[in-house]
Amino acid sequence: MMQIDIVTAFPKLVASPLEESMLKRAQQKNLVHIRVHDLRDYTNDKHRQVDDYPYGGGAGMVLKPEPIFRCVEAIIEKYPSKRRKIIYLTPQGKLFNQKLANELSQWEHLIFICGHYKGVDERVIEHLVTDEISIGDYVLTGGELPALVVIDAVVRLIPGVLSDLESALTDSFQSGLLDYPYYTRPEEFRGWRVPEVLLSGNHQKIAEWRKAKALERTRQRRRDLLESYLSNNKQIKSDGGR
Ligand code: ADE
Repeated sequence: MMQIDIVTAFPKLVASPLEESMLKRAQQKNLVHIRVHDLRDYTNDKHRQVDDYPYGGGAGMVLKPEPIFRCVEAIIEKYPSKRRKIIYLTPQGKLFNQKLANELSQWEHLIFICGHYKGVDERVIEHLVTDEISIGDYVLTGGELPALVVIDAVVRLIPGVLSDLESALTDSFQSGLLDYPYYTRPEEFRGWRVPEVLLSGNHQKIAEWRKAKALERTRQRRRDLLESYLSNNKQIKSDGGR
């Protein structure tokens, strides 16, 4: 079973998304075990202080190293032999994508350290963290929402989590293209009809239509993805169709 630990000064920020939908079911099925740790529980002072002013001055607060080290060391002591990554969420990190989600889903133990405001003392990053990850080129108030984004993308890839294994394999981005459009009942809504091909029952025609739509959208919206898709597929063809 995969073990995930979240280290945060704001445990309530991450609690409820873990208790709904896919993440809840994955835990109920014992495919993943997720624990949230409150950094304040790892302080030693009366005020349970987790942050402090930055040396050198300037605006904002920085998370102190001692509670983070103590918390992560307690977690590691509990799961000593696991193959693990210790991930710090930061805009300075490697940009998160589906490929990175696939890679992380192969590990036994993921520990997420959430910074807040200006982040964490650099010694945490230098001497504890194994990977720094950003979820995009924008600044959030803390690493809690990014940790949830990464955890959602990773946990749904664990075999058995999705009821229909197909649905992860056919996701947008696993194919390298954007997804095609979906419709459900009714056949006609306010005069707008579902494309006839989807009602035809002709599975080959439907597959062709979907592929064409996925290509068209990717060309219109994400030229960068289309280009890497086309060059990857060229390579597959010259490999002898593997
Ligand atoms: N913390 C603040 N902003 C972030 C981002 N874009 N990605 C990851 N962690 C963050």
